[in-house]
Amino acid sequence: MTVKKLHFIPLLLAFIFSFNLLSAHEGMWLPHLLKQLEGDMQAMGMKMSAEDIYSVNSGSLKDAILHFGGGCTGSIISSSGLVLTNHHCGYGYIQSHSSIENNYLRDGFWAKTKDQELTNPGLFVTIIRRIEDVTEYALVGVHSGLSEGKRQSLIDQNLNAYKARIKVKSDEAVLFRPIYYGNQYIMIVTLTYTDIRLVGTPPESIGKFGSDTDNWMWPRHTGDFSLFRIYAGPDNRPAAYSTDNKPYQPVHYLPVSLDGVEEGDFTLVFGFPGSTQEYIPASGISMNKDAINPPRIAIRDTALQILNKGMRAAEKVRLQYASKYARVANYWKKWIGQNQGLERTNAVWKKILEQKEFRDNVHGDPQYEDILPRLDSLYGVLTPYMKASQYYGEVVQRNIEIFALARYMSTLIHRYLENGDEGFMAYRDRLIPAVNGFFKDYQVDLDRQVFAALMRMYAVEGDPELTSVELIQQFSSGQAAYRTDALFAQTLLTDQDGLIRLLEGSPEAAVHAFAQDSLVIWYDALSRTYGEKVAGPLSKIQDEIDAGMRLYMAALMDVTKGKKFYPDANSTLRVTYGKVEGYPMNDTTRYDYITWLDGVMEKYVPGDYEFDVPERLRQLYASKDYGPYGENGKMPVCFIGSNHTTGGNSGSPTIDAEGNLIGLNFDRVWEGTMSDLYFDPTICRNIMVDARYILFIIDKYAEASTIVNEMTLVHPKRN
Ligand code: ARG
Ligand code: GLU
Repeated sequence: MTVKKLHFIPLLLAFIFSFNLLSAHEGMWLPHLLKQLEGDMQAMGMKMSAEDIYSVNSGSLKDAILHFGGGCTGSIISSSGLVLTNHHCGYGYIQSHSSIENNYLRDGFWAKTKDQELTNPGLFVTIIRRIEDVTEYALVGVHSGLSEGKRQSLIDQNLNAYKARIKVKSDEAVLFRPIYYGNQYIMIVTLTYTDIRLVGTPPESIGKFGSDTDNWMWPRHTGDFSLFRIYAGPDNRPAAYSTDNKPYQPVHYLPVSLDGVEEGDFTLVFGFPGSTQEYIPASGISMNKDAINPPRIAIRDTALQILNKGMRAAEKVRLQYASKYARVANYWKKWIGQNQGLERTNAVWKKILEQKEFRDNVHGDPQYEDILPRLDSLYGVLTPYMKASQYYGEVVQRNIEIFALARYMSTLIHRYLENGDEGFMAYRDRLIPAVNGFFKDYQVDLDRQVFAALMRMYAVEGDPELTSVELIQQFSSGQAAYRTDALFAQTLLTDQDGLIRLLEGSPEAAVHAFAQDSLVIWYDALSRTYGEKVAGPLSKIQDEIDAGMRLYMAALMDVTKGKKFYPDANSTLRVTYGKVEGYPMNDTTRYDYITWLDGVMEKYVPGDYEFDVPERLRQLYASKDYGPYGENGKMPVCFIGSNHTTGGNSGSPTIDAEGNLIGLNFDRVWEGTMSDLYFDPTICRNIMVDARYILFIIDKYAEASTIVNEMTLVHPKRN
């Protein structure tokens, strides 16, 4: 484009300028290393010190943050262990307590006294006691001549030796995590509580308002929160569930602000972001955008259309597939937005500019000079394998449901071949409940259609060098539907009773039958081909890339002057900060930073499964009965900010300049999901529920004032 060329120099200057000015928003920082950012954060309005956020010696914000169930974040908001997280993080537990008589998903649930709280077997929360840099111990004896395997085993050995030396309490766990691609290591000491009870949840029509249509979107109107409580033994330490357990007394809990937010306010989001790839070269971003995302979007698109049709035709099917559909649709939609964001902001080009600076810096340096060309060529080699692995992953492992049963049976056969009847029995006992669970939410007609459509895509669009000849022969012609029908007619796997009977009968007979089953044979063939043609080479190339990225990361940190580097997300505790900020939808439309209950009412569709509004909420809206939680006669619902978050930050508290809770993170704006690969401050925004809406729902909507009463409500803006 000539326009771009003409504007190259001003754009370049603008880029460099904006990079320095705005880079403060980017980053997921390790809380024990915040001292280096304290000045930055205070310049943006923060009134706390780094020590207030993370301290080993005294109570600090970090003591109120927890990893919720391993995948989400939560925060402690009362002196008796009350935990705030997202509705979508508590969803499975809320669902498990729901029945036709007590439909907590539909109606909500509020424990007005502690003995009404509901126990959740399997749920755990992890609190971080301390984090330490252990790089010097981890890397003893490590040198560049070691193979990747030798390097890793030496590091493991070093860290195990270190672990044996340090002192922790008997109920504390010690974890080690590589950061900066293994250039450094951290040690994390954790404490995990397992008696976690459900305290409250709004109905889905509030907690999941807007559902998939609004997912990853702004403006948003979802009250995506739920409340739990941590219970502890007599000494306040972790204890198995018991009626004698007492509410956990935290070292610190977050006061909740009643003063709300304005554009420009400082925000800090504290939580456990899952995974990002911020330092991969432009070639790696291109691979994600052009080779990985398109096939997985297309495959899910096809599967979702089939499911959608089935779900619309029958209420029973809708209920059976609601959660599966939401799970598949969540990332399908995210990847679409991610590609749009990468295109819109020209991320690849910006990355190339950054790399040019790096290349100039290392020019003539024999140690670093050829890293980028080498990584680029490795990404080139990796690309077809990554693409092939999307097909296998999405078709065989994810979207064709019956392949999950085929995988079980294939494993069963192997257990039998390895350990005879004993191996069979041990696995079978776990298998029977899994098989019954599978059929509870299964429609063979839908799955058969998905099978035909996806196997055809795999055969036609997949790389012929990297798939099997049989797949191409049988499914690339117009015969896919016919072949599918034949396979489904022959298989034993679609008959629940028959399967259970076989599993409960003689091992030999079952193994004999499964080994000849049409779908088990297909599953085995596809997974064998994948293992031989794709998985092997892929992991070898990936190892080389990892080693290359380790050197590149080290080089970046070595030669880039004046820039602070944060490690990619890896499910460890991180701080990200930014400010409350609106969002440019396009050149002409800029969205405000906040949404109101008025918007909920504008979106209201009576009886709709996504946009229904409970009657009581409509009444409160009509009477404008917002108590102390409204603002000038309006009820705030959600707001956005320029905080760098990702999956895993769900349930993270948003904290104001002084350490009070002002919001609850639960999503990002659609195109902003590019921030997993490249953070662009112009469009990357995280979405939070306004703390005042949470209080309003608990207090005014649910009339669960006992829950609000145990919190500490504050007016930081009035002093
Ligand atoms: N997009 C958010 C996240 O990645 C929310 C997902 C839950 N909501 C949904 N409609 N599926 O987890
Ligand atoms: N909903 C996401 C989660 O489960 C957070 C949104 C995001 O990816 O930023 O963690």
